[in-house]
Amino acid sequence: MKMILGKNITDLLKIDFPIIMAPMFLVSNEAMLKAGMQAGVMATFPTLNYRKEGELDNILKALAAYKTSAITGNYGVNLIVQKANPLYIKHLKICADNKVPFYITSLGSPKEVIEAAHSYGAKVFCDVTNIEHAKKCYDLNCDGFIAVGQGAGGHAGPNPLQVLVPALKATFPDKPIIAAGGITSGAGLLSVQILGAEAVSIGTRFIASKEAGVNQQYKDAIVNAHMDDIVMTTKLSGTPCTIIDTPAAKKMGYTQNWFERAMSNNPQTKKWFKMFVQLRGMKKLEQSVLPNNYQTLWCAGKSVELIDSILSCQEIIADIKREYAQKLEEIKSL
Ligand SMILES: Cc1cc2nc3c(=O)[nH]c(=O)nc-3n(C[C@H](O)[C@H](O)[C@H](O)COP(=O)(O)O)c2cc1C
Repeated sequence: MKMILGKNITDLLKIDFPIIMAPMFLVSNEAMLKAGMQAGVMATFPTLNYRKEGELDNILKALAAYKTSAITGNYGVNLIVQKANPLYIKHLKICADNKVPFYITSLGSPKEVIEAAHSYGAKVFCDVTNIEHAKKCYDLNCDGFIAVGQGAGGHAGPNPLQVLVPALKATFPDKPIIAAGGITSGAGLLSVQILGAEAVSIGTRFIASKEAGVNQQYKDAIVNAHMDDIVMTTKLSGTPCTIIDTPAAKKMGYTQNWFERAMSNNPQTKKWFKMFVQLRGMKKLEQSVLPNNYQTLWCAGKSVELIDSILSCQEIIADIKREYAQKLEEIKSL
C-alpha cells in the first residue's frame, strides 16, 4: 500500500488523498468539482457562486449523482456565515436539504451550520486565522479547522502557517487541521503535515487550471505574477483580501477611506454598508473573470510565484501526489 500521512482525515472526509480543492468565489465550477472528485480529493465551492433561483439546488443534485462508488473523492460547500451575506440562511437550508457531506464556514459564527450539518452526520471545518476565533468554533463543536495563513488567496490571515498550525495543534489536540495558504506541491503538503496539519486546502493553483471558470487573461496573470505582485485590499469586501497588483488594483486602492470606515463601524449602518461594499466588490470581480472584459481585479495568493503552467485539475493533483510520494521516500532514506 502507498504511504500517506493524514489517514484519519481521509477516512473522516471519505476521500482518497488529503487535499481540499478550496472554495473560490467566481472560480470554482462544476467541471473543476467533478475533476477533483474523480482525482480522489475533497472538491468544494462557495454557495455564492450559485445565486440565481434553483442553481444551488441543481449543482448539489448533480454532484450527489456524480458521487458513485467509482468516485474516490467527495464534495462540500463554503458558506459565508455573516449577517452581510443575505443568502446565508436560504443557502444553508438548501445545502442541508441536499445533505451536503462537508462544510467550510468563513467570516463569522458557524453555529447554525454546525447544528444543521450535525443533524445528519455531515462535517464542518471552520476557517480560522488565530486561536481566539478557533476557540469560538471549538466551543460550538466544529469538526476541525482550516488554518488560513499568510499569503493565502482571498481573505488571508496575518500569521504564518509555521506558527498557526502548531499553535492550533497544541491548543486543540483533538481537532484535525487543514492548512491553507501558499501550497501548490507535494513538498508543501508534507511540510504542513510535519507541522501538525493533516491535509491542505489549495486555491490559487487551481485558478490556472483548464477547467477554472475564469477568462484566459486571469489564468495567464496567475502564471506571470510573482509573490511581490500580490497585495491586500479592503476595498473589495471590507475584510483584507489578496489581489494581483494590476493598474486597476492600484487605481481602486488598498484601504477604505474615512467615510467607508465610519459607515462600517457605526452600529446603525454597519450591516447595510458592509452588504453594499460586498455587492460592489462582487460586481467588480465578476467583470474581471468574464471573457473579453477590460476589468483586471484578480484575486490570488502568494503561491502565484510557484505556478508556471495551466494544467487540467487532474494533472495538478497527479503532480502533487507524485511529488508527495517522492518526498516521503527521500525523507525515509535520509
Ligand atoms: C480567487 C479566490 C477566491 C476565493 N473565494 C473564497 C470564498 O468565496 N470563500 C472562502 O471561504 N474562501 C475563498 N478563498 C480562499 C480559499 O478558499 C483558500 O482559503 C485559499 O485559496 C488558500 O490559499 P492559496 O490560494 O494560497 O492556495 C478564495 C481564494 C481565491 C484565490
